[in-house]
Amino acid sequence: MKVLGIESSCDETGVAVYDTAAGLLAHRVHSQIQLHDEYGGVVPELASRDHVRQLLPLIRTVVSDAKVALGELDAIAYTEGPGLAGALLVGASVAASLAMGLGIPAVGVHHLEGHLLSPLLSINPPSFPFVALLVSGGHTQLMRVVAPGSYELLGETLDDAAGEAFDKTAKLLGLRYPGGPELAKLAECGATATTSAYAFPRPMLSQLEKNGDLNFSFSGLKTAVVLACRQRESSGQLDDQARADIAAEFQRAVVDVLVTKSRAALASCRLDSLVVAGGVGANQALRDALDCAASNGKFQVFYPEMALCTDNGAMIAFAAALRMTERQPGQNYTFNVRPRWDLAEVRAA
Ligand code: KG4
Ligand code: ZN
Repeated sequence: MKVLGIESSCDETGVAVYDTAAGLLAHRVHSQIQLHDEYGGVVPELASRDHVRQLLPLIRTVVSDAKVALGELDAIAYTEGPGLAGALLVGASVAASLAMGLGIPAVGVHHLEGHLLSPLLSINPPSFPFVALLVSGGHTQLMRVVAPGSYELLGETLDDAAGEAFDKTAKLLGLRYPGGPELAKLAECGATATTSAYAFPRPMLSQLEKNGDLNFSFSGLKTAVVLACRQRESSGQLDDQARADIAAEFQRAVVDVLVTKSRAALASCRLDSLVVAGGVGANQALRDALDCAASNGKFQVFYPEMALCTDNGAMIAFAAALRMTERQPGQNYTFNVRPRWDLAEVRAA
């Protein structure tokens, strides 16, 4: 079965062809970073218009890269939500139209389900059940994953998502959009835990000790960064080194919380496999800390390939293909998008 996947939930146009027999045949992502850079964040209307411009040429290129004819496709998968309404509508309408023209099913996929299943595309995939740490620009969740479509929410952020916290903190430090990778780069030049002049809070860890609470909160960390910057600025000392030190301590605080809560989630579910997915999963400090915890704590950590950490069409094609092996969807070309959509509402096929 060959599935064309379309991802257009935010600021990346992703297209891929996944074959259940031969694996991932081709995938490409068009990033809108340059388009939104001057605004310091994603402008939803500009994002939708760019998806309109990019999507059809990208589909042509990816189908040609995959060396398949459109007539050989068995389904068109698209991101149904969550995400920006206008951006989602572009992918959904193109997918439904193309599927109708080809007489094949159009399959709506939950964006986070795509992220969560993406490590199954790697050479060393995890087996079910596992705990998933989903860390993206819009979500931070711990889930118990029993099988595709069987997701139990263990904890989630009460305010900012981890990626959002990276992006906002990066902005405070004068870095460019998207802030996560930029902040990570700056943090490499910052002081270590033992030499740092800063000690930011590790939010929600005391609640974990008290009552096993697996929720997160990152907005207080942002405030700690604001205060540290103000203090340095008032004494004329907010230089490049101070910025790097603040970035490093911020990253350490986020990583500490994510690692500690992930370990607690594994223990509470009595599982020994952790899957990390979403854009923040590309963060090297997080990967190093999780790998270190795994070797001490006797659990295994699974990541998607680096190129599949952030938004892409491959994860959407793959999630749809996995579901279609369980149940063939009907050919219904009315489409819907769900800008807000809880993953726990997604049910097994
Ligand atoms: O999953 P994703 O591509 O899009 C959403 O579904 O949100 O995640 C994007 C988020 C952004 O907040 C971005 O700053 C963050 O992932 N991110 C990173 C890194 N790479 C991407 N955060 C920290 N370190 C990175 N290396
Ligand atoms: Zn995403």
